[in-house]
Amino acid sequence: MSDLNQGSDPFRRVEGSPSEDPRGFYTAGYSLSDRSEADRMGRWRALGARSKADHAVKLCARAGLHPGSLVEIGCGDGALLSELGARGLASVLDGFELSPPAADLARARSIPGARRIEAFDGEHVPADDGAYDLAVLSHVLEHVPEPGPLLREAARVAPAVLVEVPLEANRSAARPAKREEAARIGHVQFLDRAAVHALVRAAGLQVAAELSDPLPYAHHAFFAASRAARARAALKTGIRRTAWRAAPRAAERVFTVHYACLARRMA
Ligand SMILES: C[S@@+](CC[C@H](N)C(=O)[O-])C[C@H]1O[C@@H](n2cnc3c(N)ncnc32)[C@H](O)[C@@H]1O
Repeated sequence: MSDLNQGSDPFRRVEGSPSEDPRGFYTAGYSLSDRSEADRMGRWRALGARSKADHAVKLCARAGLHPGSLVEIGCGDGALLSELGARGLASVLDGFELSPPAADLARARSIPGARRIEAFDGEHVPADDGAYDLAVLSHVLEHVPEPGPLLREAARVAPAVLVEVPLEANRSAARPAKREEAARIGHVQFLDRAAVHALVRAAGLQVAAELSDPLPYAHHAFFAASRAARARAALKTGIRRTAWRAAPRAAERVFTVHYACLARRMA
């Protein structure tokens, strides 16, 4: 199983280019005609949403942020919004998404606190400056050719922005097969922690709290189809967690971890 499959991307089988036609690319990713594959990818996104929501809740607690309202920009099928709503992170939740069918899927969920869930142009969030307490950009910046403007847009609509990305500027993810897979699922950025910090600063924000996560066995084993594959996933989980616990910054230069930070507008 690849590093990238440990992420949350639902686009493993989509052809075409996210740079030339991003809306078409992501729309195809959420419109799989094979019902059982669509269901499986839905379960994969729900699994990923649980870790992402854990991260969001933890970072808000660490930063002492209690948002009344939040917006998720690039909310996909609403898996994360749903998890955040269920946990009561904010009492009002909006979501904007590039792919119209994904926004439809998100809107069809019953999410506690959900208000506006809509497709948008991927650039301009249709909300006033400071409309929200918190903006969430979860596993979106690595899909965007110019992540800076989207992060600035998030910082325009909220004074605090939660960013989560896979850190893919590492030795394992640099292998050609991994890069090919990354391209197939729409990744156009291969970020490390310093690159995220630089983007955050350029958007007029500063990191208030951050964390990394080598991800649990359930992620590593999700696509394992045999006992041997599950055993390999268990071994991989154990090795990575041990390396990450011993030296987290060194580990992220060797293999992919998920990185999340809560950034606040500079005073
Ligand atoms: C890996 S999914 C993440 C979905 C969700 N945020 C999550 O964490 O589960 C990436 C999402 O980014 C969306 N996306 C791609 N480019 C975007 C853009 N410029 N603005 C907003 N969303 C975008 C895609 O349509 C897709 O739903």
